[in-house]
Amino acid sequence: MADLNELRQRAEKIREEIRKNAEQLTSSKAAYEARKNFLDKKGVIGQLMQDMKSVPADQKAEYGKTVNELKAWASERFEEIDKKMRQRELELRYASEKIDITMPPVKMVPGHLHPVTQVREELIDIFASMGFEVYEGTEIETDYYNFTALNTPQDHPARDMQDTFYLSPEFLLRTQTSAGQIHVMESKKPPIKILSPGKVFRSDDDATHSPMFSQMEGLVVDKKITLSDLKGMLDVFVQKIFGEGTTTRLRPSYFPFTEPSVEVDCSCFSCGGKGCSLCKGTGWIEVLGAGIVNRKVLENCGIDPDEYSGLAFGMGMERIAMLKYGINNIKLLFESDLQVLEQIGDQE
Ligand code: PHE
Repeated sequence: MADLNELRQRAEKIREEIRKNAEQLTSSKAAYEARKNFLDKKGVIGQLMQDMKSVPADQKAEYGKTVNELKAWASERFEEIDKKMRQRELELRYASEKIDITMPPVKMVPGHLHPVTQVREELIDIFASMGFEVYEGTEIETDYYNFTALNTPQDHPARDMQDTFYLSPEFLLRTQTSAGQIHVMESKKPPIKILSPGKVFRSDDDATHSPMFSQMEGLVVDKKITLSDLKGMLDVFVQKIFGEGTTTRLRPSYFPFTEPSVEVDCSCFSCGGKGCSLCKGTGWIEVLGAGIVNRKVLENCGIDPDEYSGLAFGMGMERIAMLKYGINNIKLLFESDLQVLEQIGDQE
């Protein structure tokens, strides 16, 4: 620094710079950075302090005084600026966090369980109240459990009833939850009363069939189980799921693992039996397959068919959901379209 005059001019310039700077600052962080630029050891004013070394001895006192005054002034300014910035930031924060208690609340739209899950839970509740326990098998089964033990050996024509996804000659994706019957009867002595819900797979695809769907199988094995026990149970079931006045009728059918086998219809809960589009004018709606467990199946599981008898029934849960909620295409249950799902099922 050549002389004191020059220093004073410089100091004035620095003051001017700081004033200008202060007008442009918008945050306490920026103010902190600006302060560093002027007041740090390597900052503009810090540098003036360093320069004192080269000032002639007789000017040192005046030089030091001038720089110190500048430093004190700058420190004070920056303190003011910092305060102002913090106040400003606080006000902005208050403004952004302000709660308007007069605003109407945002409407809460609660979700609900998928219609098939609702049906599954409802079915479990109904049958659990009749003393059934839940047994969930596995989705991959052996050919033996899915077919052979259920009296459907290889080359049996009934295998054509279910188009099967084989994983290997031995393993397959179960085509029916009936496979669970065998596992339970093999590991448990009668009395048996189980409900077997789960996914099943068939190579089938149209408006009412999907390659993956859910079944619920029921099995009761005890002494003197008859078809009237089956009908009694199913009457309670249809009343609980479709409404009080609903009844059932049994039609002869065929399943290899039941003898006799029946197709179970329930009276149309939409028209009360008069005939409508839901029941296609017949007054009856087909809901499930059932029957008295074939003696051969009991024998396959080491249960004496002269001492015990059993009943079994199996239903598609998507079908029950479609009937209950008036859905005409099974795909709507699998597409996960929220606009559709929000309209189906219990909304409470
Ligand atoms: N497993 C049969 C099916 O998938 C349904 C059924 C179960 C029939 C139990 C009778 C007894 O079609």
